[in-house]
Amino acid sequence: MSGDGPSSAAAMQGGGFYNRNSALQAANLGSALPLLIEAARDIPADEAMIGIADYGASQGRNSMVPVASAIDALRPRIGPDRPIVVSHIDLPSNDFTSLFTVLDADPASYLAGRANVYPVAIGRSHFGQVLPGGSVDLGWSSNALHWMSRNPCPVPDHGWGVFSADAAVRDAIDAQLDADWTNFLQARAREMRAGGRLICQFMGRGPESHGFEWMANAFWQSWVDAADAGLMTHAELGRIAAPSAGRSVAQIEAPFRDGRSGRLRLVDLAVVQAPDPYWAAFEQSGDAAQLGRVWADMMRAANGPSFAAALDAGRDRDAVLDAVTRRLAARIAADPQQNRSFNVIMMIEAVD
Ligand SMILES: C[S@@+](CC[C@H](N)C(=O)[O-])C[C@H]1O[C@@H](n2cnc3c(N)ncnc32)[C@H](O)[C@@H]1O
Repeated sequence: MSGDGPSSAAAMQGGGFYNRNSALQAANLGSALPLLIEAARDIPADEAMIGIADYGASQGRNSMVPVASAIDALRPRIGPDRPIVVSHIDLPSNDFTSLFTVLDADPASYLAGRANVYPVAIGRSHFGQVLPGGSVDLGWSSNALHWMSRNPCPVPDHGWGVFSADAAVRDAIDAQLDADWTNFLQARAREMRAGGRLICQFMGRGPESHGFEWMANAFWQSWVDAADAGLMTHAELGRIAAPSAGRSVAQIEAPFRDGRSGRLRLVDLAVVQAPDPYWAAFEQSGDAAQLGRVWADMMRAANGPSFAAALDAGRDRDAVLDAVTRRLAARIAADPQQNRSFNVIMMIEAVD
């Protein structure tokens, strides 16, 4: 699904906006880097060409450190001349121009000072096979796998089905999470070389809560307020829902337990409290307005396109997003809180 309907996943806000407003995601992925470096040191790496795949790359800024770390861990093993192909995968509507601009011009580009590295982009959903069979040595996915392929049903009462008051909606979301996870794993089972490793970091679920309810509720309430103020109709509001939700440990383990993951073996799985760099900055500065702004811009960058896709054709989407972003910033500034969401960190191996 390419994000052209209200129920399917839409890419992050373009024009490099996600790159400029994803410090939270950059902090999240940091906890998975040690696993990526360990994997780069352990994989067989005995083919003439090494394949690295970055699933859900978005606009690339947050891929620079992980890919550079993987290359730096591999080079002493494979020598300076062995070509490394880095495939950045995202939805067709993704802002790939920003990704290639970072690669070309940003001092943090993993190409800077590293020879024989060949980046390519693939604009297709990672819920299907996107690379040739047996071509991936090292896979990476950060902050992407809590995005589902679509919402399985309407969610009239919230912006996220997982927070709906309707148990049937929540059950349908869990079934979609399971189907998407299985499809993702089965596609990687075909793409990965024997001995290859895949490191994934994404939003999880704690035993009692997602930990993200406070922000999800604040964002949704800002849309409700905007509808009440006449900026969109309540019919449009009722169609809005972002197809994303955290997974529990049991949901993540299920395909490995019942054989649906095929030749993929779960090596390591942890659920940890997510870092909150915005809160750390607020504790230093005491600037609640700034805390509101950074959260509101991050939420707009990541969720704005999926929400706005439900608006009527002809609606000025930028004007609605501006208004919602202002409302969310004010709401957070009035009641500053520390984020309590959970990160899943996992390592998977492809066996013979
Ligand atoms: C929050 S961004 C994460 C970007 C980056 N990896 C990071 O850590 O900041 C999630 C990305 O996953 C992408 N995505 C969502 N569903 C996808 C799918 N089915 N196939 C490929 N990419 C997908 C989105 O378009 C978006 O760019």
